[in-house]
Amino acid sequence: MLIDTFGRVATDLRVSLTDKCNLRCTYCMPEEGLQWLAKPDLLTDDEIVRLITLAVRELGVTEVRFTGGEPLLRPGLVGIVERCAALEPRPTISLTTNGIGLRRTAPALKAAGLDRVNVSLDTLRPDVFKTLTRRDRHRDVVEGLHAARDAGLTPVKVNSVLMPGLNEDEAPDLLAWAVEHDYELRFIEQMPLDAQHGWKRDGMITAGDILASLRTRFTLTPEGDEERGSAPAERWLVDGGPHRVGVIASVTRPFCRACDRTRLTADGQVRTCLFAREETDLRAALRSGAPDAEVAALWRTAMWGKKAGSGLDDPTFLQPDRPMSAIGG
Ligand code: GTP
Ligand code: 5AD
Ligand code: SF4
Repeated sequence: MLIDTFGRVATDLRVSLTDKCNLRCTYCMPEEGLQWLAKPDLLTDDEIVRLITLAVRELGVTEVRFTGGEPLLRPGLVGIVERCAALEPRPTISLTTNGIGLRRTAPALKAAGLDRVNVSLDTLRPDVFKTLTRRDRHRDVVEGLHAARDAGLTPVKVNSVLMPGLNEDEAPDLLAWAVEHDYELRFIEQMPLDAQHGWKRDGMITAGDILASLRTRFTLTPEGDEERGSAPAERWLVDGGPHRVGVIASVTRPFCRACDRTRLTADGQVRTCLFAREETDLRAALRSGAPDAEVAALWRTAMWGKKAGSGLDDPTFLQPDRPMSAIGG
C-alpha cells in the first residue's frame, strides 16, 4: 500500500510517457518548445511495464492513467496498454491526450484494453485554438474526440483551460457543444506549472468566474460529496441532468485532502504531487539491478514524504522546477 503520514492511500498512478508535445499551449510551453529529455534518460517500455506491474501487484494501485507531454507521441503506447490490461488484478486504464492522432489510433487503443480518454480542448474557434496552442490543429482534435467516442473509450471527458482575453467567454458555448456530443466537460483553473513561469493569481479565471458564466445559460445543481470521492473535479448536473459539468479548482478550492495520486515521470522519478519539490529516482534503482522488493520500498518511502497540500497558498510557495509537461499532467 502507498500510504502517507496523513492517512491518504494512493491507488491512482499517473504515468508520463514522454515530455514532448506537438502543441505549444501558452499556459504550458514556450513557442520554441523545451529541452526534451534524451532518449537514454526515458524509461523503456519494459521498465514502465515493470513499474506498473509492481504498483498493481504489490502497492495497491487500481487505476493507471497515461499522460505526457503528449502520450500519443510514444511509439510503444499500444503495446504498453496491452501489457497493463493483461495484469492481475486488472487496473482501470485511461489516457489524457491533446487528441491529435486519436482519430487514427482510437480503435487500436480500445482493442489493446484502454478504458477511456480525457481530451484537452479549450475552444470551439479554430482561430483561437491556433493562438492558444500555436498550431493550426483544431480539426484534428475534434476528429480525435469523435473517434474516441465512436471507439467506445467512454465516458470521454473534455478538459478546458480558460485564458483571459482568449477564450474566457466560451464556457457556455463549450458546455452546449459538449452536451450535444455527449462529452463530459471539465474546466480546469490555470495552475502555476508553465515552463515560462508566467502564471499570476490575479490574472487567472477562477472556478467562481466559470460557474457565474455558465449560470447565465444553464441551471447547475451540485452533485453530492459521496459521488465525488477523490476526484479532482467538483461536478454539477446541467439543467437537471443527465449531463454533468465539472470544475477542477486546484487553486481556489483545492482537493488535496482527498488526493489518492502517485506519479511517475517519463524519466522514472516518483513524484508525490504535481507541486512536489522532491523526486525519488526509481530508474536508477531499476538500472542498478534492484529487486522488486527494494523498488517497492523506495516508492513507499517516497509517498510517506507526501506533503499535506500543494502549498499554493503559502507565501513562500515556489513553483516546481519541472513544468507540467515534464511531470505529467
Ligand atoms: P478522471 O476524472 O478520473 O477522468 O481523471 P482526472 O481528472 O484526474 O484526469 P486528467 O488527466 O484529465 O486531469 C485533469 C486536470 O486535473 C489536469 O489539469 C490535471 O493536471 C489536474 N490534476 C490531476 N491530478 C491532479 C493533482 O493531483 N493535483 C492537482 N492540483 N491537479 C491535478
Ligand atoms: N494549468 C492548468 N491546466 C493545465 N494543463 C496543462 N497545463 C496547465 C496549467 N498550467 C492541462 C491541459 C490538459 C491537462 C492534462 O492539463 O490542458 O487538459
Ligand atoms: Fe502539449 Fe498538453 Fe502542454 Fe498543450 S498543455 S503544450 S497539449 S503538453
